[in-house]
Amino acid sequence: MIGLGVECTAHTLGIGIVKDGKILSNESETYVTNKGGIIPVEAAKHHEKVFDNVLERALKKSKITLYDLNFIAVSIGPGLPPCLLAGLKKTKILCVKYKLPLVEVNHCIAHLEVGKIAGANMNPEAGSPVMLYVSGANTQIIAYENGKYRIFGETLDVGVGNFIDNFARYAGIGFPGGPTIEKLAGKSKNYIELPYKIKGMDIALSGILTNLKQKLEKKHKLNDLAYSMQETVFAMLVETAERALAHTGKKQLLLGGGVACNSRLQEMCKIMCKERGAKLFVPEKQFLQDNGAMISYTGEIMFNKKIFEKNLDKIDIRPRERTDDILVKWK
Ligand code: ATP
Ligand code: FE2
Repeated sequence: MIGLGVECTAHTLGIGIVKDGKILSNESETYVTNKGGIIPVEAAKHHEKVFDNVLERALKKSKITLYDLNFIAVSIGPGLPPCLLAGLKKTKILCVKYKLPLVEVNHCIAHLEVGKIAGANMNPEAGSPVMLYVSGANTQIIAYENGKYRIFGETLDVGVGNFIDNFARYAGIGFPGGPTIEKLAGKSKNYIELPYKIKGMDIALSGILTNLKQKLEKKHKLNDLAYSMQETVFAMLVETAERALAHTGKKQLLLGGGVACNSRLQEMCKIMCKERGAKLFVPEKQFLQDNGAMISYTGEIMFNKKIFEKNLDKIDIRPRERTDDILVKWK
C-alpha cells in the first residue's frame, strides 16, 4: 500500500509519501515573510506555484511514480480557505488523471495520529495519549474518548503560535517569530511578572499580548520579555496538560504543532511527566511542524478502513472543522 499526502492548511505546502506505515519522503515549501504576517491569498499562490516541484522531490526521494500510488490524502481543514482550495484543486487533478481515491484528512487529527511514529501507543485500550497540540492557529489539549478525539482544553482567543508571532512582529521580527523568540529568551534569566490566565481547562492569551506590547513600549528588554513570556505561557500549557492527564487517567503525553519545537516547552513537559510517572513523546521536528507525511500516514489508516468519499465532486474544504466534529471510525 502506497499513499501520498498533501498538507495545505496554512503557510506550508507539504507532500509526504507513506508505504505500509513507513514514511518514504516528507518534502515541503513554506511561505515566509521578512516582515508582517501571512497573507492567505499570497500563501495560496505560493502553494500552487511550488506544488509540482515539491511533488517531484517527494516522488524522487521515495523512488516511486504516481502510477505506484493506491490513494491520495489531503488536509481539508481546519485552515485558511484560499490555501485549502489551492491544495484540493491540485490534488483533485491528480486523482482524476491517475484514477485515485481521495481521502479527506483533518489536519489536527493528523498531528495526533503521526505520534505513533514517535512511539506513542494509540490504542484506546492501552490508554492512548493526551496530546498538547500547540501550533500557529491551534492550541488544544486533545485525547481520545468514546469514539472521538475530544478537546479537554483550548485557547479562548488566539493560538499560541500566532500569539508569539504577533508579539514578534510587534518587536520587528519576521514570520515565523517562534524560533527567534526562543533564541532571545535563552539570553535572559530576568523574569518580569506577566498575567497568568487559565479559566477552568482553557487558557487566554490576548490579555498577555497587550501586556507584553505595553511592556515593550516601556522599554523593557526584549530578551527579558521573551524569557518571561515563555516561562508564563508554557507553564499555563503544562498546567492544563497535566490536569487533562489527571482527569483522564492517561499515562502518555504527546506533543504536536510547530510551537512544540521549542526546547524550553519540551523541558517543562518532561519535568511534569517525570513527576507524575507519565511518558512524554516528542515527534521529530519534521513531524511536529505542518507536513505532508502526517497527512499520508493518517490517510493510510483511514483508507485501510475504507473511510473515504468515492464521489470526488462531493469533496470540499472544511475550513472550520473541529477536532471533535469527526467520528473516529478507524479505532
Ligand atoms: P496550524 O495550521 O496547525 O494551526 P501552523 O500552520 O501555524 O499550524 P505549525 O508549523 O504547526 O503550523 O506551527 C507554526 C508555528 O510554530 C508558528 O507560529 C511558529 O512561530 C511556531 N514555532 C516554530 N518554532 C518555534 C519555537 N522554537 N518556539 C516557539 N514557537 C515556534
Ligand atoms: Fe498544524
